[in-house]
This record gives sequence, structure tokens and C-alpha cells, in this order.
Amino acid sequence: MPEIRPYRPSDRDAVADICVRTADNGGDSRSLYPDLALMPSIFALPYAELEPAYAFVLTDADHPVGYILGAPDTPTFAKRLRTEWLPRVADRYPPPTAPPTTPTDHMISLLHNPERLVIPEVAAYPAHLHIDLLPPYQRAGHGRALMATLLKALAAANVPAIHLTMLTSNTPARAFYDRLGFHHISVPDVDVVTYLGRSTS
Ligand SMILES: CC(C)(COP(=O)(O)OP(=O)(O)OC[C@H]1O[C@@H](n2cnc3c(N)ncnc32)[C@H](O)[C@@H]1OP(=O)(O)O)[C@@H](O)C(=O)NCCC(=O)NCCS
Repeated sequence: MPEIRPYRPSDRDAVADICVRTADNGGDSRSLYPDLALMPSIFALPYAELEPAYAFVLTDADHPVGYILGAPDTPTFAKRLRTEWLPRVADRYPPPTAPPTTPTDHMISLLHNPERLVIPEVAAYPAHLHIDLLPPYQRAGHGRALMATLLKALAAANVPAIHLTMLTSNTPARAFYDRLGFHHISVPDVDVVTYLGRSTS
């Protein structure tokens, strides 16, 4: 029976692999982003390493098969991405010198723009999250349990509310968030992505 426990540094490769296998709109991203370290470097590992108190894994026989990763204060996290995370990955992914053209270019642009995370519309929802489970573990209640675990940790730290950004086309994920009490947050001039939020309690 899968179990939830806090992230450990030894989970790093497994967490990166889950990210890769779910990073193309919920599906396997390996053909879209051939550099398998890229998506985890943006959407998974900085969370696990900079905010381990808010990183939880779903395990099967103690091997991670899903995760939820949170940043309790998004503006602080964006600053730490700039000052602590980017220096660690900039050798592998140098700052872009030309406008992005390929999917990989677009992701490297995101990596080098952590300030994109800080927008006024989500100021009342200081935390944000990423959640991904491998396909065999989806639709069995584990996502709900992972979310409850993160919300409890955030509420215990007096973080009042959380938001997330998702691709608008990921309709299965939207159904999940709707069931878990997230509501739409209106943000001007975005349509490819949707912002959702809820209180932590
Ligand atoms: C989205 C995801 C995290 C949901 O986790 P999960 O374990 O599959 O969801 P759960 O089984 O805990 O479902 C919780 C509730 O959401 C509903 N739900 C989940 N997925 C749903 C779907 N595709 N369609 C309709 N309802 C859905 C469930 O019916 C359940 O409702 P209930 O508890 O009231 O009966 C998981 O499916 C996943 O990792 N998907 C691929 C990666 C991804 O898209 N991540 C999100 C990126 S923004």
C-alpha cells in the first residue's frame, strides 16, 4: 500500500523521473524535452532542495511514485531561485541570448525568469505547489492525500492560502483541483495557463 512521507535527499533521482514522466501536460515529456534534467531543474528539484519541509513523496516499497512540492512564500522562493538555485544550474543552462524558438528554449527562459512567479493577483495566496503522480498511482485517492499533507504543513506554519499555475488544457488536473476546493483566480492576459487557489484550512 503506497505511503506518504517527507522527501529525503536520496529521493532526488526518483522525483526528477516522476517530473519528466508527467511534465508534458500531465504526460511523458521525454520526446518533447530530450534533456531529461531540464524540467526537474525548473519544476521539481529546486522545491525539494530549497523547501524540504514542504516536500512530500508518495512511496511504494519506499520508492517515490508521486510527490507534492510546496513553496510557502512565493516572493521569497523567487528570490532564492535567483540567488541560490540559478547559480547551481547556469553552467548546464546558460542564460538565453536570443528569443526562444524551441520548447527547450522556452523552458530555459522560464528557468532564468523566477520573478515570473510573483504577480499581484496571487499575493493573498502566498504559497504555491506542484503535484505529480506516476500513471499507475493516479485516480486512487493519493493526490487528495498528498494535498491534505501539504495543506496541513502550511496551515501549521500559519500560511493562510496557496495557489498553483496549470496549463489550461490539462482538463483532468483541473477536475482534480475543482474537487479539492480550488477556485479560479483571475489574472489578465493569460489563457494558456490558469491560476487556481484555496485556503490551507
Ligand atoms: C492530477 C493528479 C495530481 C491528481 O491526483 P490523483 O491521485 O489522480 O487524484 P485523486 O485520486 O486523489 O482524486 C481526488 C479527487 O479528484 C477527482 N479526480 C481526479 N482526477 C480526475 C479526473 N481526471 N477527472 C475527474 N475527476 C478527477 C477524483 O474523482 C477525486 O474525487 P473524490 O475524492 O471526490 O471522489 C494526478 O492524476 C497526476 O499526477 N496527474 C498527472 C500529472 C499532472 O497533471 N499534474 C498536475 C499538473 S498541474
